[in-house]
Amino acid sequence: MEKVVSGIRPTGNLHLGNYFGAVTSFVKMQEDYDCMFFIADWHSLTTQPKPGDLRRSVKTILAEYLACGIDPEKATIYIQSDVKETLELYLYLNMNAYLGELGRVTTFKEKARKQPNNVNAGLFTYPTLMAADILQHKALKVPVGKDQQQNMEMARKCARRFNNIYGVEFFPEPQDFTYSAKALKIPGLDGSGKMGKSEGNCVYLCDDDKTITNKVKKALTVSGAEVPNSPKPECIENLFTLLEICSAPEVYKFYDERWNDCTIRFGDLKKQLAEDMCNVIRPIRERIMEFSSNDTLLEKIAREGAERARESAAKTLREVREIIGFTPVAR
Ligand code: TRP
Repeated sequence: MEKVVSGIRPTGNLHLGNYFGAVTSFVKMQEDYDCMFFIADWHSLTTQPKPGDLRRSVKTILAEYLACGIDPEKATIYIQSDVKETLELYLYLNMNAYLGELGRVTTFKEKARKQPNNVNAGLFTYPTLMAADILQHKALKVPVGKDQQQNMEMARKCARRFNNIYGVEFFPEPQDFTYSAKALKIPGLDGSGKMGKSEGNCVYLCDDDKTITNKVKKALTVSGAEVPNSPKPECIENLFTLLEICSAPEVYKFYDERWNDCTIRFGDLKKQLAEDMCNVIRPIRERIMEFSSNDTLLEKIAREGAERARESAAKTLREVREIIGFTPVAR
């Protein structure tokens, strides 16, 4: 089976947009590929989180991904900082990465603009750490968002350059991987195009029924159309997209007809949508609570994941050391 590697930044709770986007594709991917998913806690140090916050967010993300259906029997899920081999490869890759190219990475430039008082070396070498994450497993496919394309280009450069310098065909070049052509784009409740944490328009998987219902109730609407079969404005289209995702097809069809014959009552639509959304989220929320309250289980899963990841990385690093010239005799 082909190897897939992806890192998850431990930033906040998962929302419906994450769930129907990346998370669902991970859950499907684990059936067809040898998947390694890890929580990128080293990467999150670029913004100096407090220890308590870091611990909490790593645990939350682990519990939430498991609750969504990442199955440790099918995929390897681990915490980045448990696999020290990554650091060794990170060092080797840094020796062959140039200041110029690292400085041109837009995510670096953006972060440097956002935190001008903390433009640290970790931020600068973010792409080589990411390359080490990937190359240590010799992964061929990396599911990442569009914003990661430059980092992926750097990972390929690191692989190519290592191979060139040592005259070997060792690291394969990892490719950006889109698993399903039709990734669902989940709209926000504020009439905007996309549900996102920074937009503040999210329904979280850990929200309780009351919170969800209130959020749906407050969703932006306009008054119904006066002309039959009018096109739907964006905020209304968004509510219909959510109905399509959370409700039965008949429900969608019913409200679509009410929109088209100008008899729609958004109060009714929202009540129905809230109920259906609660039904989608409730079982996930309950599993999140189960995992979150079972530290022993979370620790066992993280430990076993780390063991598997370490085994895979250690094999690569043994060979890398040999290629570089660190032979047992020299030590
Ligand atoms: N940089 C990725 C992001 O911000 C997270 C990440 C870190 C990652 N290491 C990775 C993704 C390795 C894929 C492979 O989303």
